[in-house]
Amino acid sequence: MNPPPPMDPGAPIVAVTGASGAVGGRVAQRLVRAGVPVRLLGRDPSRLPELPGAVAAPPAPYGDGEAMRHALAGAHTLFLVSAHESPDRVRQHTTAVDAAVAVGVERIVYVSFLGAAPDATFTFARDHWHTEAHIRAADVRYTFLRDSLYLAGLPAMTGADGVLRGPGGDGRVSAVAHEDIADAATAVLPADTESTDTRHDGLTYDLTGPEAFTLAEAAEEMSRVTGRTIIYVPETREEAYASRAQYGAEDWEVAGWVTSYEAIATGEMSTVSDAVPNLTGHPAMSLATYLREHPDSYRHLLKTD
Ligand SMILES: NC(=O)c1ccc[n+]([C@@H]2O[C@H](COP(=O)([O-])OP(=O)(O)OC[C@H]3O[C@@H](n4cnc5c(N)ncnc54)[C@H](OP(=O)(O)O)[C@@H]3O)[C@@H](O)[C@H]2O)c1
Repeated sequence: MNPPPPMDPGAPIVAVTGASGAVGGRVAQRLVRAGVPVRLLGRDPSRLPELPGAVAAPPAPYGDGEAMRHALAGAHTLFLVSAHESPDRVRQHTTAVDAAVAVGVERIVYVSFLGAAPDATFTFARDHWHTEAHIRAADVRYTFLRDSLYLAGLPAMTGADGVLRGPGGDGRVSAVAHEDIADAATAVLPADTESTDTRHDGLTYDLTGPEAFTLAEAAEEMSRVTGRTIIYVPETREEAYASRAQYGAEDWEVAGWVTSYEAIATGEMSTVSDAVPNLTGHPAMSLATYLREHPDSYRHLLKTD
């Protein structure tokens, strides 16, 4: 790998939240590689990656306004990855946004969700719409990256018994790779010193894979790559709640799991957009390619006997 280009100490700083995670970590790595000054944010600095030239901020939980103001002071752009799901996730997000505006952050690039709407079938997608609404109303430039279901989610949602079960009907999902989300974000994030590059301001990009497939087709693809028969078993809503009761999760969380499939059934997850190729200059990754390149994602589906 070539060394990153030298960093311009006067260039605008991009604060990357979720930097200990899958999306934020990839984005931080790419920005550093491009020579963009990066500040890494997370709730626990010991979980943040070590990247040449990137600076780790003090602990920055979204719900703590003072900590967020401290962590964001002097940053030009905030890359805001959504928080882990919780009943007060919108409040956590709005606290983070208000902190950014209070310390003079000029731009927010928020990772939202495909079909975010106040009445979205997928209950967690409603949080994203409320967060977007708060950002739109704030005194800040913004861009929304509405990603589809992660491709990584498909093998993860399939049990070791080789069954993908849920109330997804025969709907389609345009699942997208973490890599493509990170590449698209990296195309949007860097700011010029004069802030004259407003190309992405006020825009919403749907970040999707190259096609929308049914869960039965996803099971077929996983069968091909594992050499084992993987099947999709469509459930009714009642069956879905019953089969998830064993996990002892709270009602709001189980509703999120179940409605993520129901949003596939209604067609809300079937949008296919050209934003990934347009922003990145390369095609979006398919499920087949994702599985080929990420054998760890389906290791639990390989029969050991
Ligand atoms: N599109 C999809 O299919 C899909 C699936 C699952 C989740 N999501 C959403 O997309 C987000 C990013 O996905 P990912 O794959 O990158 O998840 P991930 O690997 O779990 O990373 C999440 C990151 O967000 C940080 N974080 C979580 N809650 C936070 C909070 N309250 N305050 C500050 N930082 C917080 C975590 O940091 P620390 O834990 O180190 O503080 C971590 O770095 C998730 O958090 C979730 O909201 C999307």
